Amino acid sequence: MPRFYVTTPIYYVNDVPHLGHAYTTVVADTLARFHRLRGDDVRMLTGTDEHGQKIEEAAEAKGMAPKAFVDAASEVFQRTFAKKPNELLTEPDDFIRTTEPRHVAVVQDLWLRCQRAGFIYEGQYEGLYCVGCEAYYTEKELEPAPPGSSEGPSCPIHKKPVSKVREPSFFFRLSAFQDRLLAFYERHPGFISPESRRNEVMSFVKAGLQDLSVSRTSFAWGIPVPDAPKHVMYVWFDALTNYLSALGDPKRPEATPTLGGAPLARYWPCDLHLVGKDILRFHTIYWPAFLMAAGFADEQLPKKVFVHGWLTINGQKMSKSLRNTVEPRKLAEVFGADVVRYYLLREVAFGQDGDFSHAQLVARYNAELADTLGNLLNRTLGLCTKLRKDAPTLDATAGRGPLEDKLEEAAKLALAGASAAFEEVAPHRAIDSIWALARAANKYVDESAPWAEAKKGEAGAARVDAILATSLEVLRWLSVLVWPAMPTVSDKLRAQLGLPALEAPSGREGTDQTALSFARAFATDKLALGTPIFPKIDAERQEQIFAELGVAKAAPEPEAPKKGAASKEPKKKEMAEPAAEITFDEFTRLDLRVGTVLSAERVPKSDKLLKLMVDVGEPAPRQIVAGIGKSFAPEALVGQQVTVVANLKPAKLMGLESRGMVLAAGGDGEGDLALVQPARGRVIGTRVK
Ligand code: MSP
Repeated sequence: MPRFYVTTPIYYVNDVPHLGHAYTTVVADTLARFHRLRGDDVRMLTGTDEHGQKIEEAAEAKGMAPKAFVDAASEVFQRTFAKKPNELLTEPDDFIRTTEPRHVAVVQDLWLRCQRAGFIYEGQYEGLYCVGCEAYYTEKELEPAPPGSSEGPSCPIHKKPVSKVREPSFFFRLSAFQDRLLAFYERHPGFISPESRRNEVMSFVKAGLQDLSVSRTSFAWGIPVPDAPKHVMYVWFDALTNYLSALGDPKRPEATPTLGGAPLARYWPCDLHLVGKDILRFHTIYWPAFLMAAGFADEQLPKKVFVHGWLTINGQKMSKSLRNTVEPRKLAEVFGADVVRYYLLREVAFGQDGDFSHAQLVARYNAELADTLGNLLNRTLGLCTKLRKDAPTLDATAGRGPLEDKLEEAAKLALAGASAAFEEVAPHRAIDSIWALARAANKYVDESAPWAEAKKGEAGAARVDAILATSLEVLRWLSVLVWPAMPTVSDKLRAQLGLPALEAPSGREGTDQTALSFARAFATDKLALGTPIFPKIDAERQEQIFAELGVAKAAPEPEAPKKGAASKEPKKKEMAEPAAEITFDEFTRLDLRVGTVLSAERVPKSDKLLKLMVDVGEPAPRQIVAGIGKSFAPEALVGQQVTVVANLKPAKLMGLESRGMVLAAGGDGEGDLALVQPARGRVIGTRVK
């Protein structure tokens, strides 16, 4: 029976929900919805991480008792992500809090199992600790203090001096798991994704693991260590266990789940932990090691940890001091939750760092939502009303031709592409595939020109019906495909198409609603052309929105070059003899387009050639064979925007067809090429002029 258990990290309650938290939660929810639509038995978990020194200090700063503080703070996260209806339309099946008895019981049980197996022992800890990370550091991992400063070295993430800790502590024998972890990573290459993160973790583990201090005595806000009341558990031992404790029976907190226990057996092992890159090691080293120590066999360990990058806001690091942490609630109020979800999923190749830019959100809204999907719906329904107002059904059978065959092919490609991408945790690629279909359908309406067929009277009637029925059918497919990312947009599309809203409940198996067949006839008696789902945002409205959100109008000034930095300026290259002059008209014959690399692999027997699949805004991606393999690892190119010469005559390179060229700057292709990319993300297919 197909099951899918997906988790987000549990959020520290010393902060309020911000866009970084929303990002992971929206991706988890979209993947969960995709699996629900497929008929899988799904469970999605999120929650709050409420213990530890950081939280104790935050409560103290507010003059509150820790429990009262975490209760209030967790409530804000629950309102944002869990309670219905919430601001981002996320529907987790459970929201775990680490202060709940059901969690505490399971953590203490896991501890005892590790201890009984001889992997937890008592000692004395002396070392460096960052409260912000709730993590131990070695001297070499820290940033040195500036010369002459009296402060010690700083945490590389929080940029604050770490504290020296010396206290009695229990230790987890992490060093005993080095070989077993490495063997596990080897046998389960999909455990850590993307590949680059897997390599990072493997080199870290290969360099040797030290035992980990897993209890503290200098503060009290944590889960007590069994039989050692002075100690509270290290917050990561406590927090990671949420993925397991949430599967316990909430009505019987004393009944700690065992591998034979019903809820645990149903969803465990977890299919997917989504985590940010800052918490990679905790999830890929500590977590499997804790479970191994407690007696979990390899096949009982989580199946995948997918690591995503960090978002910056309008080019700047998100931080409370810069007052630029974007509140998801405000964005959703202004743009609507579906639009925020779409943008989060679409803008950044999941896995990489990316930027959240308000201007780019508006650009994508206008180009991709209003002009592409919204336009397709409005014009199709408009044409139905104008050309075939009273027809109860439209049948494509008699008037069907090659254009319909092509569009049906594009629909099948989009469905297959989106499904594969969702399964591969690449929501941005899923959206790419879906929007390729919406663009193809708009192009189809242009090319098939039903208004011209209508002018032919009887002779054109069958074609008119075929075109309208086919366009409506594609819209029906799109209403299914967009549901995981934009559930209420799907409802609105379907309402205008006269179809019931989709329902795909969690926690049980259902039918596969993505198994679509391309129908030849469409009932039109319930069509209801409504107000545009995505009214265009013009410059004036944009200005209003930005004022409401407090977004600065102009992009931040680039930093002035520092004194004495001249030597760091890029070197100038002597310009070789310029090529022969061309006229402007000749230049415009070049069709240069912004594209996104969807996949990249080496061409066998060539160290220079890479086979790329690039989306340049056409119904299907293009295969381009590029001579850039000495400068880039294939995986580094995936998700990158590139400039493509789109009207270059196709050529064959080492037997492979290449349709276009990717522009790069640099000498001779011997390893020093730089991609020519738009300085800010652009909509795919944008012309470069
Ligand atoms: N409590 C721990 C996780 C324990 S999981 C057993 C924690 N909490 S956190 O609230 O600090 O971070 C939660 C998640 O938000 C992390 O995955 C982190 O990477 C993510 N993000 C925080 N800021 C972010 C951005 N600016 N961009 C994207 N994600 C970011 O760590």
